This record gives sequence, C-alpha cells and structure tokens, in this order.
Amino acid sequence: MTTSPNKPPLTLDNLAAMKRDGEKIAMLTCYDATFAHAMDQAGVDIVLVGDSLGMVVQGSTTTVGVTVEEVAYHVECVARGLERAFLLADLPFGSYYDEVTAMDSAVSLMQAGGAMVKLEGAGPMVAVVEYLTSRGVPVCGHLGLTPQSVHQLGGFKVQARDEEAAAQLVDQAVALQDAGARLLVVECVPAALGKAVAERLQIPVIGIGAGAGCDGQVLVMHDMLGLGARAPKFVRNFMSGGATIQDAFAAYVQAVRTGQFPASEHMY
Ligand code: KIV
Repeated sequence: MTTSPNKPPLTLDNLAAMKRDGEKIAMLTCYDATFAHAMDQAGVDIVLVGDSLGMVVQGSTTTVGVTVEEVAYHVECVARGLERAFLLADLPFGSYYDEVTAMDSAVSLMQAGGAMVKLEGAGPMVAVVEYLTSRGVPVCGHLGLTPQSVHQLGGFKVQARDEEAAAQLVDQAVALQDAGARLLVVECVPAALGKAVAERLQIPVIGIGAGAGCDGQVLVMHDMLGLGARAPKFVRNFMSGGATIQDAFAAYVQAVRTGQFPASEHMY
C-alpha cells in the first residue's frame, strides 16, 4: 500500500474536535486491506472491522459465530491498508462477558492493529467499559439494536420506540460515557432519539439507522455498495450514482459531511 507523510492518523482527540466543531464523522465497516486503502483515500474517518463480517464475509445469518481470532485477522488486514482513518475493532459475542475476558480479547484486537474496541450493551457492560478504559483500552459503546443479542431481541428490528425505552437508552448512553467510553454507536432507533443522545453526550455519537442528528454515520460496506439481497431502510446505495467503488466511498463521505445522508426516507 502506498503511504504519504501528509496524512497523520486520526486520533480520538481529532474525532472529539469534529463533534465540537459540528463536522460530521464518516465511518464504514471494512474487512480487508484493499477496501481499507480505498476508504482511506476517499476520506473515511473511522473504519470498523465489524463482527458483521460473520454475515457479509462468512455468509452466516447472524454475527453470533464470529471469534476474536477472526476479527483479529481482519484487523491485521485492514490496518495494512490505512494511513489516516481511525481503526475500530469489534469485540465479538462471548468475548467480553467479564472484565478479564474482555481485557484478553481487547489486547488481541489492539495487538492486531486496532486503536479502539467496540462492545454492545450497557448494564453489566458498564463495569467492563470502566475496567478496559482505566487500563489503556479505548472503548466505543453500541446501543439500540445490538446484533449480538438478536435471538433475545427476536430479530433485527427498530429499538426504543416508546418513551420509557428511549429514556432508558439515554441513561445507558450517559453511563457508558461516565465509565470512560469515548465513542458510541447507536443502531436502529427513532431519529429523534439518535439526536437526543448526540445532544446529551460530550463524546461523538455515530448512528446507523438513528437519524441525521447523530454526530456521524456508519454503514456496512456491502450494503452501501448495493450488494446483498435486501438492504434495511436506513441504507443508501452509493454505487448507483458512481462509476467506481472509490467514487462510492467518496460520495458517502461527502453526503455524510454535508448532511445529505441520511435523508428522511432512511430514518425511523
Ligand atoms: O458489526 C458491525 O458492522 C457493526 C455496525 C453495524 C455498526 O457493529
């Protein structure tokens, strides 16, 4: 991969400054070095090696079967393709059920090249976040639709539609921030709630199906490239107006930065 000395890697402080300055953050999932390089060149700010790899790379129907070793392998691949983008790595199902297990898993992902790990949920996870962040592991939370709990949630569906559940989600977000989380992903919630969470927190809130009021957006790469049989409502196919994959990534960054994505048809 070619590198240029003119693009220093983004840091968490840079991402926090983007939120303070009202500059929207563009994030995509990624699983290999070639796509990572293309995203980096297109100006994607955060690249997530998501456990969605279980679905879009491995062909499973859920993310539940993904292991730490598999995520670590893809983190190593993606890290080789990046120059500027911040590299976030997903802790997969069963890899952070207590503090020590979470630390072991996080060490593997950070030694593979991750700059931060992401975990799903709040409640008992708040203590895990505190344990990791106080030991030098930056953590991103993930609330709303938490795909690793798909069997408990009864499917991939919109979360926190009523007032009580929305208030609970805001409290969970604050608890994660207070425990040291420096970033939060909120998935598949009403747009008003995504906005409320972003306004309430000091840390950047990245939405996926959580409306335009979030501080940034994330999509699964395969979805925004128009691959896959049935994309969720919150996805826009960025290949439809672009000649190349590189153009699609650049169009995504531009649409997120200017607030053109998500539009009302992508929101709940
Ligand atoms: O695994 C993943 O791709 C994710 C995104 C949906 C945010 O967690």
